[in-house]
Amino acid sequence: MGGSDMDVLDLSGRVAVVTGAASGQGRATALRLHRAGAAVAALDLNREDLATLENDMLALAVDTSDPDLVAEAFDEIENSLGPAYILATAAAVWAGWNSIVDIDYDEVERIFRINTFGTLYCVKNAARQMIGKGQGGRIIMWSSVAAARGQAGDIPYTGSKAALEGMARPLASELAHHEITVNVIAPGAIDTPMLGAADLSFYDTVLPGRRIGTPDEVAELVAWLCSPRSRFVTGAVIPIDGGVASINGPWALAHTFHQLDPALVAQMKAALYGSNQ
Ligand SMILES: NC(=O)c1ccc[n+]([C@@H]2O[C@H](COP(=O)([O-])OP(=O)(O)OC[C@H]3O[C@@H](n4cnc5c(N)ncnc54)[C@H](O)[C@@H]3O)[C@@H](O)[C@H]2O)c1
Repeated sequence: MGGSDMDVLDLSGRVAVVTGAASGQGRATALRLHRAGAAVAALDLNREDLATLENDMLALAVDTSDPDLVAEAFDEIENSLGPAYILATAAAVWAGWNSIVDIDYDEVERIFRINTFGTLYCVKNAARQMIGKGQGGRIIMWSSVAAARGQAGDIPYTGSKAALEGMARPLASELAHHEITVNVIAPGAIDTPMLGAADLSFYDTVLPGRRIGTPDEVAELVAWLCSPRSRFVTGAVIPIDGGVASINGPWALAHTFHQLDPALVAQMKAALYGSNQ
């Protein structure tokens, strides 16, 4: 195997569908796969930001939580670019913090419809195209480190992401003989608008690596999962979080409670790093 970066990922002649492509990790992924030579279909609700992507991407303003619109979008992709070889589903929304006693059922349904059902609609359409073409494929879904933890108040988002991890396993098993891999990535805190309202200085002190990740770091993992080098990796949930999923003890506690009790966080920071932090 050669040593140059060019060997890692040559997607010339491949069609990649990326959702959530207007912003953050989806955008970085769309640009990374485009740089590798893929014909990219970029899907998002946000038409304005889609328009700032590369001109030769097929930008489709689609609400991925609507199964009919998703089916139409995949027809258009197949007609314009050809059948999908890669599906990367970054589109999602975060739900905010809510105690179980105040939980709003409509809001829970909205979160699952976008994060879980929307992903499933895309996977169904993409899998049909991949199987039809008969040249294998790569499906990458976005979970979150949240799915493996228990942050108080994060019920719908955590559930919507854990459901994706559960679905990845039967999907991987069903699609393996078509040489279609199905993997889930589970990012920790990544510097995107989704995290925008959070107190970033909290992450800089409490996370093991003392920093959050970048969308480009996530896009590199997705690129590897799209490359021939990962062909035997399927049904995996891969953390990309600077060590967050591995931590326990006070860091984990701080991570769990910080949104609900800032005073407790201050106390923990002081205990961990001294009162001057
Ligand atoms: N940023 C983080 O810290 C973090 C951590 C763990 C997991 N994640 C996950 O990473 C993925 C990417 O998020 P991000 O951090 O880039 O956030 P982001 O908010 O920058 O991007 C999400 C994109 O999804 C789009 N979107 C939302 N609902 C949609 C819908 N119904 N139809 C089409 N597009 C829709 C938004 O318009 C936006 O462009 C998400 O699945 C998110 O849950 C993010």
